[in-house]
Amino acid sequence: MASVELGASDRLESMRILVNAELEALIENEKKNGAGQVAELCGSVILAGGKRLRPLVILLAYEIAGGTNFEDVMPFALVSEMIHTATLVHDDINDEASHRRGVETIHSKVGIPKAVIAGDWLFSKGFGLGGQYNEEIVRILAQYCADIAVSEFDQLDHVLDLTTSPEDYLSIVRGKTAGPFAAGCQVAGMIAGLSKEQALPLRRFGMDFGIAFQLVDDLLDLRGDERMGKPRGADVFEGKMTLPLIHALTLSHGEKRQRLAQIIENFTDDCFDELMALLNHSDSLHYAEILVRTHLERAIDELETFSESDAKDMMLSVADYVKRRNM
Ligand code: IPE
Ligand code: IPE
Ligand code: MG
Ligand code: MG
Ligand code: MG
Repeated sequence: MASVELGASDRLESMRILVNAELEALIENEKKNGAGQVAELCGSVILAGGKRLRPLVILLAYEIAGGTNFEDVMPFALVSEMIHTATLVHDDINDEASHRRGVETIHSKVGIPKAVIAGDWLFSKGFGLGGQYNEEIVRILAQYCADIAVSEFDQLDHVLDLTTSPEDYLSIVRGKTAGPFAAGCQVAGMIAGLSKEQALPLRRFGMDFGIAFQLVDDLLDLRGDERMGKPRGADVFEGKMTLPLIHALTLSHGEKRQRLAQIIENFTDDCFDELMALLNHSDSLHYAEILVRTHLERAIDELETFSESDAKDMMLSVADYVKRRNM
């Protein structure tokens, strides 16, 4: 699935295959070393697919920064995917999701206690792998992981908070989704030999790219896209205040505003069409789409300081993929 979507270039596809093979070997090795059911269960989610966007972006950022030996950066690319998967395992418990990447979630299979521990296992293994890098890099890694937790707390505190502002939303998204992309790109640059400061344009690229990516994820939830593998409006059902809702609540008034609040607070699929009509009335999906474009444009501008390369072209096609994904 992802291979077709992301397959603008054969090279990109071969990078994805390489990442998949490394992840498979890693899980096999854990099983051989006695990690048993926990490795089995984590392997079932890790190897079920996924777009591998984080490792791909990290490998490309490394090459854009002048890196030439994938072996140096590959462990960090795997770290990003393992920690990402750990957050998904925990996210699915909290969101009561039955499926992830087309397979049953771990907590649906074996219950919440083991799923919590499986997420911790993935996190420990990921973080441990990242521990081979220098202290500066490990600090960046630790900070992005901690920021995910802080912003997930923040998101929970804003559940059904109809006064949530666009700034609140963006701050949550920076922490939970864009931060890991930002840190990943910066670290990739550092592994390629740039200083922490020299790698800041890559960090900013990752941040804007990640914000655009989460905006699209939120839009696809409202569109009821089958690629999401979950019912349309799952975020609304969860009480998650995504940008289109925030925008519509700000712009609507009178009866429409009242009805919108009612629907958000008691969402069921029966109200889906009415919700969409209200969002369209305030042009709120369009507003979010404009922001997707703006953040992607800003991200791409950050790459200007790096010389032209195949990796840069591929990164542009990945950014384009995020934009097209929303269509
Ligand atoms: C899902 O991430 C969680 C978000 C941050 C939106 P992805 O959409 O990258 O999930 P996979 O890795 O492809 O399954
Ligand atoms: C991503 O957010 C979760 C993390 C970054 C931890 P979502 O809650 O939007 O992820 P999906 O939509 O369930 O994949
Ligand atoms: Mg979720
Ligand atoms: Mg969530
Ligand atoms: Mg989502």
